[in-house]
Amino acid sequence: MIPAFFFLGPPGSGKGTQSALIQERLNYMHLSSGELLRDAISHGVPAALEVQDQINRGELVSDELIHAMVHDELKHLLDQPPLPSGVIFDGFPRTVRQAEMMDRLVADLPLEFKGMINLIVPESILVERLLQRETDGGKRKDDNEETIRNRLRIWREKTHPLEDYYRDHNCLFDVDGVGDMEEVFSRLLPILRLNAHPA
Ligand code: AP5
Repeated sequence: MIPAFFFLGPPGSGKGTQSALIQERLNYMHLSSGELLRDAISHGVPAALEVQDQINRGELVSDELIHAMVHDELKHLLDQPPLPSGVIFDGFPRTVRQAEMMDRLVADLPLEFKGMINLIVPESILVERLLQRETDGGKRKDDNEETIRNRLRIWREKTHPLEDYYRDHNCLFDVDGVGDMEEVFSRLLPILRLNAHPA
């Protein structure tokens, strides 16, 4: 079974940045629901083009669309040897319904749920980081102040409740997400190592 971890932090908390490091240094497979959507849009996939405006406004797309995309991509990637040391999910699940879908997904595939990693960063820093990305090149249409505030509001409403659920089930790892990316990565390592299978 392949260990599977999930990032639960809000927009700008560093889920994508840390996932890339985990992929590169620990040979994990990184699966980002936001990247899947942006790739599908850039390839002109009709189902993704239909929700392009929703994404640009910072709203969540339907649970069914996300589940189908994550499931298909994961199945495709896991069918291709060699298998990774683990899988890190970034941006999924984001609603209670997606959390239920995630349980089924893990049960259907050779994955073992290891926990949710909650990157904790104060909102002022989240906004600062995302605005900075806009200033630095801004290739994401959802990185403008109005949409950033909307993304954070929706995260508080729809995703934040998942924290309590996973904390009550003893599978939430709270991690301080403030500091440079190497510092944050060093806080994640013990969690990933302790909970990974020995090689
Ligand atoms: P998604 O792509 O998942 O975006 P997000 O959650 O809004 O988060 P970001 O990617 O902006 O932030 P992040 O936490 O990954 O931080 P990052 O490492 O990039 O989703 C986009 C949209 O797709 C959603 O709004 C929704 O419409 C749709 N969608 C996706 N999943 C969905 C789902 N499951 N259900 C429904 N809809 C879904 O870092 C951000 C910035 O900070 C970068 O510039 C980075 O360089 C910088 N940074 C990172 N770490 C540090 C650090 N330690 N110090 C200083 N700067 C840092």
